Amino acid sequence: MKTVLITGASSGIGKAFAELFAQKNDRVILASRNEEKLSRMARQLWDDYGVTALTIPVDLAQHNGPVLLHERLKELNIESDVLINNAGIGSFGLLHEQDASAELEMLQVNVLSLSHLMMLFLPDMVRRGSGYVLNVGSTTSFYACPLSANYSASKAFVLSLTEAVANELQGTGVTVTALCPGATQTDFFRRSRMDGQKIADPKTLMSPQTVAEMGYAALMKKKTYVVPGFQNWLLTQAPRFFPRKFVTRITRSVLERKQQ
Ligand SMILES: NC(=O)c1ccc[n+]([C@@H]2O[C@H](COP(=O)([O-])OP(=O)(O)OC[C@H]3O[C@@H](n4cnc5c(N)ncnc54)[C@H](OP(=O)(O)O)[C@@H]3O)[C@@H](O)[C@H]2O)c1
Repeated sequence: MKTVLITGASSGIGKAFAELFAQKNDRVILASRNEEKLSRMARQLWDDYGVTALTIPVDLAQHNGPVLLHERLKELNIESDVLINNAGIGSFGLLHEQDASAELEMLQVNVLSLSHLMMLFLPDMVRRGSGYVLNVGSTTSFYACPLSANYSASKAFVLSLTEAVANELQGTGVTVTALCPGATQTDFFRRSRMDGQKIADPKTLMSPQTVAEMGYAALMKKKTYVVPGFQNWLLTQAPRFFPRKFVTRITRSVLERKQQ
């Protein structure tokens, strides 16, 4: 039985990960801001799988969020075998028209807290000679997305960080995997004010369960990254075959398209 810490476990892909690990009888620790949603999740995991889930409310948009989460687990004498670094938010619009504080919060969650959590949890994993980290990136980890500039840059950071650290950790028994999903049916588009866009069309979205299952398989196979779905994988290959400026124009037109 593994102990699995999942950030952003209250909905979407994080919730699907929590259900997946609970199904396998692993001990799950659910972290995100919404205490009520986390408690509901914990009750559901008990009812469905007989698994006791620990809940830790934490705001990863605060720079001390990762330390508070790590300290709480130390107080409880709990060591995590698996860290699912999933919490993330998006944004939509021209960078120069964005609310700077909201964009900075997003960067804190998607970039700084994600990296900080790795720095807090990896030393113990390396000392024990075993551990798994999964960082949730995106297909946008592979190319720039106008109208979501900071978001796509934040996800490029996630992939770059993962690839570099995966290399550093060779021979330690600890692995790091980036999960890079395409558009997935979660609360993400509503929260990112993108729910009128074609990209958020429910008919074309992948299910969070499928995304989590593919992430889990890649994690267990110790892969450095995985892109769920063949079409999504093809998209991520575009910068290898087309000029980067052309790919950037295409990603903008995809994001601009409205649902009919
Ligand atoms: N959906 C997609 O199309 C898609 C595609 C590619 C990548 N992703 C990535 O997948 C990951 C999960 O997103 P999702 O699609 O499952 O969206 P979601 O349903 O909106 O879930 C986001 C999760 O992050 C948590 N979160 C947000 N801000 C937080 C904060 N300040 N502190 C702690 N937790 C916070 C939320 O919980 P609380 O609100 O309770 O804090 C929630 O549990 C993100 O990293 C996202 O970038 C999503």
